[in-house]
Amino acid sequence: RTTTEEKRKRKMLEVKRIGVVGSGQMGSGIAQVAAMHGIDVWLHDLDPQALSKASSSISSSINRFVSKNHISQVAGADALKRLRLTTDLEDLQLADLIIEAIVESEDVKKSLFAQLDRIAKSSAILASNTSSISVTRLATSTSRPRQVIGMHFMNPPPVMKLIEIVRGADTSEETFVATKALSERLGKVVITSHDYSGFIVNRILMPMINEAFFALYTGVATKEDIDTGMKLGTNHPMGPLELADFIGLDVCLSIMRVLHAGLGDNKYAPCPLLVQYVDAGRLGRKRGIGVYEYSKDPRSTKS
Ligand code: NAI
Repeated sequence: RTTTEEKRKRKMLEVKRIGVVGSGQMGSGIAQVAAMHGIDVWLHDLDPQALSKASSSISSSINRFVSKNHISQVAGADALKRLRLTTDLEDLQLADLIIEAIVESEDVKKSLFAQLDRIAKSSAILASNTSSISVTRLATSTSRPRQVIGMHFMNPPPVMKLIEIVRGADTSEETFVATKALSERLGKVVITSHDYSGFIVNRILMPMINEAFFALYTGVATKEDIDTGMKLGTNHPMGPLELADFIGLDVCLSIMRVLHAGLGDNKYAPCPLLVQYVDAGRLGRKRGIGVYEYSKDPRSTKS
């Protein structure tokens, strides 16, 4: 009887249809991964242009998977059929789980969670892809804090193997189990973090990047030597300054500020040079200039 009961419970929690809110860099990648793994996806954005950009980037990414023989042509076409784009949030009402991937602003995310709470079916899980905002606080804007969880994909989602699951103070075991099962179905490896600023990956990565800025700021070494040191000295595929340019210096700075505020230790104070680059609009690759300069073609290597 117990096994039948367990099976029934598992079936109830099985995610068949998901909604993704925000079709930018992360949301479009998340929607693609889910569609490629047999899940029906509604991808929502307020901005129709963002949706059409997402649609073409998903098609070309799937075509690359096909041309590299990672998936068959039929599987690629099937994945595209599973994907629906919409500017109407109400279309997500039948989703078993909704992943939010909109701007990294607590107020905007909270108002979206309140809206999703009204729209989504009562059993649905509400997940956030936030890099740094407290899942516990997002959950307070809903009537279902037990069903709110962090599902932090790495960039780009179709390529990166990791999902960091963040358990808010009230996240239930059922919600965690269903989210973990979905993540594994998407072919990802799961790590689990409690809801403290920066979770696991950014808690460790961002202070390292910040320290690299301090090394540059205080004249310890050139940017090239700092990056080469970490690449060849510790086997990192990218140096910390190069990686900061890839992530976006504004993103790195805002995460450092979250760590500083949330963990209350001066060791997390952002380096003044990082602050100055962001003030100057040197945001990294996306702007053509950060620590390094890049030509207009984003695929080109740094100068
Ligand atoms: P993005 O700026 O590329 O995309 C955000 C999208 O959300 C835009 O298309 C925008 O039109 C849409 N949007 C904004 N407000 C909305 C609303 N209320 N309803 C519907 N759509 C809305 O941002 P990106 O880089 O994809 O980041 C999204 C989230 O993922 C953020 O929380 C970020 O911290 C997190 N994240 C980002 C990573 C990265 O490397 N960029 C890595 C892991 C997480």
